[in-house]
Amino acid sequence: MKQTDYRFLKACRGEAVDATPIWIMRQAGRYLPEYRAIRKNVPFLELCKTPEIAAEVTIQPIDRLGVDAAILFSDILIIAEAMGLPLEFNPSPVLNEPITDIAGVDKLGVPDPEQTMPFVMETIRILRRELEGRVPVIGFSGAPFTLASYMIEGGSSSNFLKVKTLIFQQPAVWHKLMEKVTAAVIEYLKAQIAAGAQAVQLFDSWGGSLAPKDYRESVLPYSKQIFKALEDQGVPTIHFLQGNPAALPLVASAGSDVVGVDWRIEIGDARELIGADVPVQGNLDPLALFLPIEKIEERAEEIIRQAGPRGHIFNLGHGILPPTSVEHAQALVEAVHRISSKINE
Ligand code: CP3
Repeated sequence: MKQTDYRFLKACRGEAVDATPIWIMRQAGRYLPEYRAIRKNVPFLELCKTPEIAAEVTIQPIDRLGVDAAILFSDILIIAEAMGLPLEFNPSPVLNEPITDIAGVDKLGVPDPEQTMPFVMETIRILRRELEGRVPVIGFSGAPFTLASYMIEGGSSSNFLKVKTLIFQQPAVWHKLMEKVTAAVIEYLKAQIAAGAQAVQLFDSWGGSLAPKDYRESVLPYSKQIFKALEDQGVPTIHFLQGNPAALPLVASAGSDVVGVDWRIEIGDARELIGADVPVQGNLDPLALFLPIEKIEERAEEIIRQAGPRGHIFNLGHGILPPTSVEHAQALVEAVHRISSKINE
């Protein structure tokens, strides 16, 4: 197969496909017994930093589910560590020296990815060798807002008290931080592409927590810079913001090739909001995988019909959860291929 002929890449370009491609956010993870078997002996960060094993777990869902793309096994916070913030997982991520002021921002570096995160690029190189002719490899980064939020909150947050207080009360510190994170993300994604990533996704998992005005002023300019910097890199870009479908037109205006859609909006409405010619990715509620298989198929069919035959990459609206049944995930992948190829005949 020609490198550019993969279904997933065709859908990213809005071209006709034989069946709708599907991959699943967090497809390599704890719902898979073969992942748990490896994790029993290897701490999560060590797994991310050992290319042979990171590549092995990346490939597990390709073998098990038959999805149409592999996503690099890593974590969005690896780059925060490379910028100078000590990182731990227990099991949620913790940054023990959060940013509170300009001195904290000044201490952060804009790292050379090949020097500080060589394991990421090496994992991608292994994946390209092992998956050639099977599926393309997606690289990724956290988006500047989600990364900066983790850096300020020190971990997850329910109300974003610290990050919003900083945005509102110390905008100069915020913008300095976003400038540094953005510069680091651009270098990181370029290095992943140079190593062989055939598409890249920017995860703004927390971006839905902002009012439109704040998103527009404090986040959007930085996401725009990233997609502008990647324009000439020759691979499709995907921008996924979680939590607020009302922000979709703003998200789309950042300039990615594909826009990720969570489950809080019907995908047909999402396409109308952002323009029918913009490829979309999504958007089954991850909890729908806990329904009986016939119900999963009904929901998948509805999404496929609403999204239409072109420019749709099927995915969940957010990551697959650890208690999900592998059999149900397999049934979803099979159903998306079967139903879409029949509808699109
Ligand atoms: O999608 C994939 O299969 C690729 C690997 C991947 C992981 N994390 C593996 C992981 C990707 C793309 C991510 C991105 C990521 N990490 C995001 C953005 C996407 C999202 O879900 O919103 C965020 C916010 C993180 C930060 C993070 N890392 C969290 C909140 C957690 C979960 C903690 C928990 O216990 O659920 C992690 C850990 C993590 N990242 C795991 C995996 C497989 C679980 C680690 C384990 O095996 O214990």
